Amino acid sequence: MAASDELICSEVHTFTESTESDSSATRVSHFTFSNPLRISSHNDQEINYDSDGDAVVVRKEDYPEDALVIQHDLATNLASVGRQVWRGSLLLADYILHNHKQMVGLNILELGSGTGLASIVAALCGSSVVATDIPDQNILEIIKANIELNKDILNTTESITVKALDLKTDECNDTFDYILAGDLVYDDSITDALVSFIEKTLAEHKSTKFLVSLEKRYVFTVKDLDTVAPAYQYFIQKLSKAFVKFVLLDTMFKQYFCYDRSKDMVLMLISN
Ligand SMILES: C[S@@+](CC[C@H](N)C(=O)[O-])C[C@H]1O[C@@H](n2cnc3c(N)ncnc32)[C@H](O)[C@@H]1O
Repeated sequence: MAASDELICSEVHTFTESTESDSSATRVSHFTFSNPLRISSHNDQEINYDSDGDAVVVRKEDYPEDALVIQHDLATNLASVGRQVWRGSLLLADYILHNHKQMVGLNILELGSGTGLASIVAALCGSSVVATDIPDQNILEIIKANIELNKDILNTTESITVKALDLKTDECNDTFDYILAGDLVYDDSITDALVSFIEKTLAEHKSTKFLVSLEKRYVFTVKDLDTVAPAYQYFIQKLSKAFVKFVLLDTMFKQYFCYDRSKDMVLMLISN
């Protein structure tokens, strides 16, 4: 990403409507999304056919629009990037919404949840979620505030628990169906901790699957005389040496949230 004291901006908020703004960098924004959970039972269960006999597919535009209300910062230094929304969590949220029928009643852990957006979407789909992040920078307080801000759409706030989890020091003690990690690949020391956490967790909890989303961040280096994505390459190198299986998932599925889902975004499934 950037040097530790430099201000970084995810720019994701440019696709949102900000409802509040004050003199500080903190905002409350509406992240609108097409909500497949609100599709009528008629559309969900019956296939309609057009005059040529072709099935009429329910398009993204046919889904009712909803919004998550998310408190976040506009720009932060590297230590506080969790106070912003990154495209990683929007890609995870899209994937969860797209597969919402398989996301009911699961136990899900999110690592480095940041503002908690992906965790809130997983809870919305009917899973029990533990949203975690480092205990610094008031990030856990932002997640708690965001759960409260979305209590109407969630119906209950009890399906999400917020906990501190530092990948560098903590382990996974419970068994989860999925462990989510959105945009955690940008600093080699965090990547080391993430890969080691993945390896240990999968050794202990055989059926758990990790869903990792990230953005390949390209830079030109004199060493390579080319544009390379060093953080991504480092992650792949580390994963290749770990005793785990990983596959890249197709990211060309329907988009529910508004953001730039560029070809540099990666979604990965890691399992035993
Ligand atoms: C780029 S942000 C992504 C936040 C969120 N997942 C998203 O996509 O919007 C990286 C996240 O990793 C968290 N993080 C950094 N170091 C960590 C560590 N050692 N253990 C767990 N999370 C960490 C940050 O606090 C931040 O929330």
